Amino acid sequence: MDRRHFLSAAAPLALAGTMSEARGQTSSAPAPCAPARTADVVYEPTPLAVVQTMMDMAAVKAGDVVYDLGCGDGRIAIGAARRGASGVGIDLNYNLIEWANANAKAERVQDKVKFVHQDIFTMDLSEASVVTLYLLPELNQRLRPKLWKELKVGSRVVSNAFDMGNWRPDKTVEVPTRYLMAYMWTIKPEHKKA
Ligand SMILES: C[S@@+](CC[C@H](N)C(=O)[O-])C[C@H]1O[C@@H](n2cnc3c(N)ncnc32)[C@H](O)[C@@H]1O
Repeated sequence: MDRRHFLSAAAPLALAGTMSEARGQTSSAPAPCAPARTADVVYEPTPLAVVQTMMDMAAVKAGDVVYDLGCGDGRIAIGAARRGASGVGIDLNYNLIEWANANAKAERVQDKVKFVHQDIFTMDLSEASVVTLYLLPELNQRLRPKLWKELKVGSRVVSNAFDMGNWRPDKTVEVPTRYLMAYMWTIKPEHKKA
């Protein structure tokens, strides 16, 4: 089964490899309930090592505002907060938003992160200096004009596993697990004219 097919077919709460498990803690996900509308891709977490790779690619530091579009259990926003940045996670699945909040509290970074129950396609992204993605190729490409329009010049976009079609990345890194790539783009002045 190829990667894209796997993401579409995976069970919505395939919550293996959670942050708390990784740290040997026991917090568990809240019971599922129906989301406001069907998500465009089901939940699958970015491995924690890949979160670090993505943070390194975007050179996330204090002062950055990192938006994770489709935030799952909050691990990317929390990873950004651990580097001194602010993290904002957006997800259509309210159970995941609740779980992300619980994880942020457990990590004592709740004052550095915010989790928003909203559609990524209607969320205003203009405050972000870094946007992270682990979606699907067609969703990345649907987001591209929005990223170009709303993000400031110099903002970085990092995607786990999937590229942006003919928008060539500034950096690619083979991630340490599963032999996939991570991609990083920078918003440039020409994107504002597109
Ligand atoms: C593959 S998971 C990635 C989770 C997290 N970013 C990570 O890398 O660990 C994709 C997430 O996007 C969410 N999602 C899908 N479509 C969405 C939409 N239109 N708006 C907000 N969230 C969405 C899903 O609920 C899921 O949690």
